[in-house]
Amino acid sequence: MSVTVLSAKSPGWLQKVQGSFLDHEPVALPTETVYGLAAPASDEIAVGRIYEIKDRPRFNPLIVHVLEHWDLSPYVDLGLLEKKLIEKFWPGPLSLLVKKKNISDFVTAGAPDAVIRSPAHPIFREVLNKLSAPLVAPSANSSTRLSPTTAQAVVDDIGSKLKYVVDGGSCEWGVESTIVKVEGDSIHVLREGALSRETLSLAGFKIVDGESARLAVTPGSQLRHYAPLVPLYLYDSFEKWSQPSSDATLYLQVLSSDYTGPFPFKNRITLATDSDLKTAAHNLFKFLKEAQEKYREIRVLKTSSVGLGRAINDRLERASERNE
Ligand code: TXA
Ligand code: MG
Repeated sequence: MSVTVLSAKSPGWLQKVQGSFLDHEPVALPTETVYGLAAPASDEIAVGRIYEIKDRPRFNPLIVHVLEHWDLSPYVDLGLLEKKLIEKFWPGPLSLLVKKKNISDFVTAGAPDAVIRSPAHPIFREVLNKLSAPLVAPSANSSTRLSPTTAQAVVDDIGSKLKYVVDGGSCEWGVESTIVKVEGDSIHVLREGALSRETLSLAGFKIVDGESARLAVTPGSQLRHYAPLVPLYLYDSFEKWSQPSSDATLYLQVLSSDYTGPFPFKNRITLATDSDLKTAAHNLFKFLKEAQEKYREIRVLKTSSVGLGRAINDRLERASERNE
């Protein structure tokens, strides 16, 4: 198959997406977090194709994407606090693990719960609106590899297995949605993501500290993930990070304020020269993709675990060699 990159400005793009779904073929679509590989949640064949294209293990369930103003009661059971979260943060990068009703086992890998989210990206929303039915969409990358934040990154990774990618430019957030689960009057963060714990707290939601709930509940947060094609090593101190290596090594820091002193080696880049974590998240997968094409190894200095820094460090930890 050879992939066509569709511009959402070209006439007929939406009809082509619909036609592809009628053929049970998933389509890569932009969201405000990362590009997703989308298919109707009710189409077992198309959902099967998603697993095939990504080479994703069948036990790893898929996020169900909806529009926030739909009646969700046929699909899931929502409690009061879940409804409040939706009211406050949808559309946007917040996903909720909730009790499912009418969502197939082939979407949730047999689990009694489903993860739902309402994306903010106008292109994804237009497709949902046209279909009037939920779409599943994992990130549009080969399983365990870097998440794509541009249409070109999708093409370079899984393009040979796809019919269409809709180009929506580069994704605003650059890291995936935050996945949470409500328990009693509190919220567990199951995956750190674009919506920070601080933002949830500031809005008055009580967050359970720590990460213990995460691995048990979200099978997809397996350790090895988001990995570039060359080894990535992660360091929490400048001294360890700045050990001499070869010319084929890239030294990457997250914020320019993470280390401001002199640096002895030539290949150094910074994800955010403005020291803004949002810039860093936006650039994370894009810079790692460029780095894997140019260097033999990547040495990264961890940033502080505050705000979006948690999601950035989380992705870097899973991408790093220490977890093998
Ligand atoms: O920002 C995002 O959430 C992006 C965009 C495309 O929407 N999607 C995304 O999907 O990151 P994916 O499949 O790459 O990551 C979804 C994570 C996986 O770790 C998966 O295991 C977990 O959510 N997940 C999905 N449904 C689940 C369920 N029913 N129970 C437990 N974990 C679930
Ligand atoms: Mg993913």
